[in-house]
Amino acid sequence: MSNITIVAFDGTRFDLSVQDGSTVMENAVRNSVPGIDAECGGACACATCHVYVDDAWASKVGSPSPMEEDMLDFAVDVRPTSRLSCQIKVSPDLDGLVVHVPERQG
Ligand code: FES
Repeated sequence: MSNITIVAFDGTRFDLSVQDGSTVMENAVRNSVPGIDAECGGACACATCHVYVDDAWASKVGSPSPMEEDMLDFAVDVRPTSRLSCQIKVSPDLDGLVVHVPERQG
């Protein structure tokens, strides 16, 4: 298990203890985090699971794959720290990860 924090747009913090190997999106949906619709169910095909990785974690999480990069073109208000949360797998390396949900999605 690792701990992650998902911060909703209104500032509500979801401090979650999650299974390693699960994705940030799966945990957001399971915990009804507002703003993560994940319409495609994690197939990297909708961009409604867009999050901003906290600055402190951006280099650890790394950059999106080319396929994810293409899909991010459909996200709203993309920033350098934007990622699709279905493409971020939790691992002990990411224990303590913080991501922020954008104001609105696609
Ligand atoms: Fe659709 Fe992540 S859930 S791209």
